[in-house]
Amino acid sequence: MKRLEQKNCLLIVTGSIAAYKTPELVRRIIEVGGSVRVVMTSSAEQFVTALTLQAVSGFEVRSDMFDVKAEAAMGHIELARWADAIVVSPATADYIAKLRIGHANDLGSAICLASEAPVLIAPAMNQKMWTDPSVGENLEVLKSRGMSVIGPGSGLQACGDIGLGRLVEAEVIVSAVSALFERGILAGLEVMVTAGPTREYIDPVRYITNHSSGKMGFALARAAREAGARVVLVSGPTTLDPLPGIKTINVVSSGEMRDAVSSNIKSADIFIATAAVADYRPEKSALSKVKRGTDVLNMRLVPNVDILAEVAALNDAPFTVGFAAETEKLELFAAEKLKRKKIDMIAANLVGEPGTGFDSDDNELTVFWDKGVKKLERQSKQQLARELVKLVAIRYDLFASSR
Ligand code: CTP
Repeated sequence: MKRLEQKNCLLIVTGSIAAYKTPELVRRIIEVGGSVRVVMTSSAEQFVTALTLQAVSGFEVRSDMFDVKAEAAMGHIELARWADAIVVSPATADYIAKLRIGHANDLGSAICLASEAPVLIAPAMNQKMWTDPSVGENLEVLKSRGMSVIGPGSGLQACGDIGLGRLVEAEVIVSAVSALFERGILAGLEVMVTAGPTREYIDPVRYITNHSSGKMGFALARAAREAGARVVLVSGPTTLDPLPGIKTINVVSSGEMRDAVSSNIKSADIFIATAAVADYRPEKSALSKVKRGTDVLNMRLVPNVDILAEVAALNDAPFTVGFAAETEKLELFAAEKLKRKKIDMIAANLVGEPGTGFDSDDNELTVFWDKGVKKLERQSKQQLARELVKLVAIRYDLFASSR
């Protein structure tokens, strides 16, 4: 169970009688090296006390979203970021419906929306409730969004019924949490990701840049990490939060990005270039601010090195994945870039359409490789990144075995 060592588990306890088993679950996660912080719904408090859970977890138990003191210590968004995994156990039919709809009217459901962490749901309810089609349908939707479900088990229920609906045993939940970190399709590999825009300085206060937010690159870095890879992220200037567990090299210009990539690429097995690197830079960057004049000002731009093509041309090059943001002729331009840059895969998307591309949270991609193409439907950049990582892992295996 080593995978839970030093992992942060946020446990959301909802109002089922099975909540009385929660202290055991907390204890077991801690036994295998994890940290647990508990969030309870007000109905859960009918079945297990916050004091007990505080005693076993070693942390203050949260239930009220508007608790000023607790929010000041660790706000709900911080809690959402703190979590490496979220476990909803026991999960009532009501809470499952709530997660499916995307309510955020209690602390736990708000955290689920605000967190990027994988979510595990352990349902517990009466056997008749469990067989109601609405419950199954809600869980299917949640699974399709990437959440995992464990159980329920079968047997005698608190209400006297016999059937499916019992919360599974604590050790079963612990191994399911551990399995969340076991998606090791990239285990043992090193992945380098470039992200964000670059800035090409005209003078100390002016630069050429673009709209890239870095979101897709950060999502890919996170997805590769989840898939078990060591990740090196080379990022241009973004406003995104640093990613825990990921070595990040912050750069500003395309020249710095190139240097950071070339000094660290040797150990990389996979190189994913999502950065929107400026194609040109001013030939000369003025040392002091360029003053206003009345004449036409000409600026000579010189081409930047194509970092991706340079990596692909290395002897013993890693598996290389490029991105192509196009405003037209997606297929044609993507295929041309795949060939010209001699890369192994390219993920292309149309930009300029509302709700996709540069600064949006959603995106859709068409991925091309030698003789292959796959469309990844529109979804959140994080989910999309996970899908792309799966595809990369499959193609990487073929690439590595043919060397
Ligand atoms: N790229 C790179 N270094 C550059 C330019 C681009 O590593 N100097 C990478 C990007 O990170 C991306 C891919 O190359 O993965 C394609 O970038 P794009 O700007 O679309 O390609 P260009 O070759 O610049 O083509 P164009 O701008 O003409 O569409």
